[in-house]
Amino acid sequence: MSVDKFFTLKDGRAIFIREVFVEDAERLHEFYLKVTSETEFLVTLPEEVLDVASERNLIRIYRSSHNRLYLVAFYSSQIIGALKLAGNRRKRMSHVAELSIAVKKDFWGLGVGSILMKEAINWAKSHEIKRIELTVLDNNKRAINLYNKFGFVEECRMKMATILSDGHHDLILMAKFL
Ligand SMILES: CC(C)(COP(=O)(O)OP(=O)(O)OC[C@H]1O[C@@H](n2cnc3c(N)ncnc32)[C@H](O)[C@@H]1OP(=O)(O)O)[C@@H](O)C(=O)NCCC(=O)NCCS
Repeated sequence: MSVDKFFTLKDGRAIFIREVFVEDAERLHEFYLKVTSETEFLVTLPEEVLDVASERNLIRIYRSSHNRLYLVAFYSSQIIGALKLAGNRRKRMSHVAELSIAVKKDFWGLGVGSILMKEAINWAKSHEIKRIELTVLDNNKRAINLYNKFGFVEECRMKMATILSDGHHDLILMAKFL
């Protein structure tokens, strides 16, 4: 199933969504440096972002796995969002995929996250994924609203799992069944 598509954002701009290519590694590296530096909602720090060679290897793994999806959103030639669905490597858990998503701050609230989520869930339904799970910081209201909108429900809280500039925060485990 191809996910190459154009969409119109709430402000009228057009974006393009497609699966990742190995050639995207440099631009993705820059994208992750940017998004990890502009928000604390991502647990990864800029200095912990994968280097370009590791990002290339990761893309190869995604492209060669039957239960993994790596979507990239472009505005013009600029990467503005990315979503990963990491299907479990073990056969007995291969129906379980972990979701992660990030959108550049300039584009928050315009529908990019919803577009990526919808495409990923549709892909998962046709790739034998039965459970999608994710973790989200307890103060990340926008992300929690996004996940609720797509039918994710809270399963448990990992108390004090992270430390941000204002102190400890819980990580909420959410899941959706397909
Ligand atoms: C969370 C994130 C992916 C959402 O992407 P987005 O493109 O901003 O999402 P959308 O514009 O599609 O909005 C999705 C929903 O969020 C909610 N939302 C939007 N703006 C909001 C705001 N200011 N406050 C609270 N909720 C808001 C709404 O429910 C919205 O759905 P609606 O448009 O149908 O009303 C994005 O903000 C982001 O990358 N944040 C930083 C990284 C991050 O938090 N990643 C997730 C880690 S678990």
